Amino acid sequence: MKQVLGILIVSAVVLVSCKQDGSTQLKSGTNLNPEIEQKIDNLLAQMTLDEKIGQLNQYTSRWEMTGPAPDNIDSVAFYNLLKEGKIGSMLNVTGAITTRRVQQYAVDSSRLGIPIILGYDVIHGFKTMFPIPLAEAASWDPEVAKLSSRIAAIEASAAGLHWTFAPMVDIARDARWGRVMEGSGEDPFLGAKMAYARVKGFQGEDLAEENTIAACTKHFAAYGFAEAGRDYNTVDIGERTLHNMVLPPFKATVDAGVATFMNSFNILNGVPATADSYLQRDILKGEWGFDGFVVSDWNSIGELIPHGLAANREEAAKLAITAGSDMDMEGNCYLLGLKSQVEKGEVDEVLVDDAVRRVLRIKFRLGLFDDPFQYCDAEREMEVTLSESHLNSAREVAKKSIVLLKNENSILPLKKSGQKIAVIGDLAGSKDVPLGSWRAQAVSNSAVSLVEGIASAVSNVSSLYYEKGPLYVKNQRTFATHLQFNETDKSGINQAVDAARKSDVVVIALGEDCFQTGEGRSQVDIGLKGLQQELLEEVYKVNKNVVVVLMNGRPLEINWMAENVPAIVEAWHLGSEAGNAIADVLFGDYNPAGKLPVSFPRSVGQAPIYYNYMNTGRPTGGDAVFWSHYTDEQNTPLFPFGYGLSYTTFEYSEFRLSSENLTMGGELKVSAIIKNTGEVAGEEVVQLYIRDLVGSISRPVKELKGFEKIMLEPGESKEVSFTITTKDLEFYGINNRWEAEPGDFKLWVGTNSSEGLEGEFELK
Ligand code: NOJ
Repeated sequence: MKQVLGILIVSAVVLVSCKQDGSTQLKSGTNLNPEIEQKIDNLLAQMTLDEKIGQLNQYTSRWEMTGPAPDNIDSVAFYNLLKEGKIGSMLNVTGAITTRRVQQYAVDSSRLGIPIILGYDVIHGFKTMFPIPLAEAASWDPEVAKLSSRIAAIEASAAGLHWTFAPMVDIARDARWGRVMEGSGEDPFLGAKMAYARVKGFQGEDLAEENTIAACTKHFAAYGFAEAGRDYNTVDIGERTLHNMVLPPFKATVDAGVATFMNSFNILNGVPATADSYLQRDILKGEWGFDGFVVSDWNSIGELIPHGLAANREEAAKLAITAGSDMDMEGNCYLLGLKSQVEKGEVDEVLVDDAVRRVLRIKFRLGLFDDPFQYCDAEREMEVTLSESHLNSAREVAKKSIVLLKNENSILPLKKSGQKIAVIGDLAGSKDVPLGSWRAQAVSNSAVSLVEGIASAVSNVSSLYYEKGPLYVKNQRTFATHLQFNETDKSGINQAVDAARKSDVVVIALGEDCFQTGEGRSQVDIGLKGLQQELLEEVYKVNKNVVVVLMNGRPLEINWMAENVPAIVEAWHLGSEAGNAIADVLFGDYNPAGKLPVSFPRSVGQAPIYYNYMNTGRPTGGDAVFWSHYTDEQNTPLFPFGYGLSYTTFEYSEFRLSSENLTMGGELKVSAIIKNTGEVAGEEVVQLYIRDLVGSISRPVKELKGFEKIMLEPGESKEVSFTITTKDLEFYGINNRWEAEPGDFKLWVGTNSSEGLEGEFELK
């Protein structure tokens, strides 16, 4: 991979280049608002080097930590730094009153009165919690992602925030990695659509509006490819995987006008991403013309030292600023190490100026210079937060995120009366787990639990028996504490079994605690922890009518369940309205239409597993030995990408291609008729996959290239068509650029990545 570590910044908007004599020149580009750029020029001209570096320095509040404890800055030192203009941004400061106080101090006490920008991890809601992003991706509905991000922005901005560290767009193929929950799964096409929508939702039409916030695309790049699924671990992928699989969702957010980027902790092909100028300068700020700023991840500049790239803070600062990391989150490297580098001539001040310009540009776009307090509105905060309409939307989004994995003998939907229902499992009673990891300001225990949801759906609660069974997480757990699973205390199993015995049907909630996924939560075992499997099997012995409701933040290993129990509902961590949304599905008030955004493995040993893999030279072999397979497990996933059932059935027919030939620059139409062949109305996500059969590099066996969600009444048919252009066939190939290659292609229109009507065409 090309590494340009010299001071060479080529950008569509700001161009910095080395002159013959080694000094650096800054030129302005064309796509910017000249008025804002002029104001930035004026400010820059007044700023001392210390004040400039201050703009690049970000601290967390000490009352909420989302990373390891940084160098101790007590509150006196902190306020002094604010006064000296040495803090440009803070994270983890929330609330209209608190943010106003901090902003007031920054603006009033510092020499130039530059407002600070306040960031926070608003990942799937601020106080009204929406489904975790992985779940939301299961809706295959970008409008849903846009809506939840819009509402999150409305609540967060009213609490004084200007900036969210979202969307997280990392492609994740390995269920061991705890941050699978935070992104849109394994596919770059679906991921790009969701990422684009989220940026639009957070940022709205105009960043300067009081209810929009700047988005931050993270983690740049390839963080989801951590070796062995262990968080923060090294990543080694080829340049083609980087371009074809990892980068498309990042690029989509630049197209959506994202204001900021965050780089990543991982080493990528030998260079920590924070010090990678190929990523940040050549691709992001160069090729893609991104004119916002890049914030480091939490102390990722300081981590250049343990990574073995820098010997000390000064070197770390130099490497990071040179590579295009504009703001230092919690690293103290810019504050304590950058000035001396500039003074010694190790870092050209023009680089500092460019970084400061980018930070100021976003502050101007947010309207912070016009009114630094427009976001801190205690009245608005009261009014909008957790409003009825936000909660209603949370329920809508949650319903759409549910995936029906199995439903034998149409055991679902359940009847609202005339059936005795046992509700089992401590997750069923939990008002906290559904809030998920990365829950921003959600109030603990504020979600509608599954038991509550079911109780308000049935007509007679005396037909319900709730037994939690053994608690499977023993300790009080938080974002920053380790969980202790109960492997021994079986009390509770008997009562649960009794409840199952006297009921017609059992709804059992199993899966993961919300803090089993998220940052730093990698696992080697993705089965059911604690005594959950035992509980399930004991219950199943006395009542076969079992409906499992899964609550989880990653694909799980659930072979026994998939083989034995008649119904499985994938309900992830669905947020504030989880219980109501699940009940809507269980009782058929809503017909589930979600589709998996990740493959569910048969065994963790298959990780990484994903549908858009490349064929080996020995892809098949039956009973023979010498082909690419496991001797103790199949190659295929338990549930493939794109999979999900409905309470109705759909038939695909009349596959049509407008032509068998596509000329370069032309387009082709592919269509099929989808019919609802069941008894109830339902939605189907119709999916288009394409394979480039012979290329200058090997191409995946299938790639998602389109999808459309349609609603069909019983007996109704609709034609769904997709237009394929040569752009859709482009990939980053042998010539290290995106291009389509002539040749034969296969395509499928179907209900998931492993089924579909098939056709062929040739690109000439
Ligand atoms: C570290 C995480 O990797 C990042 O995603 C998050 O935004 C920051 N901490 C701030 O909390």
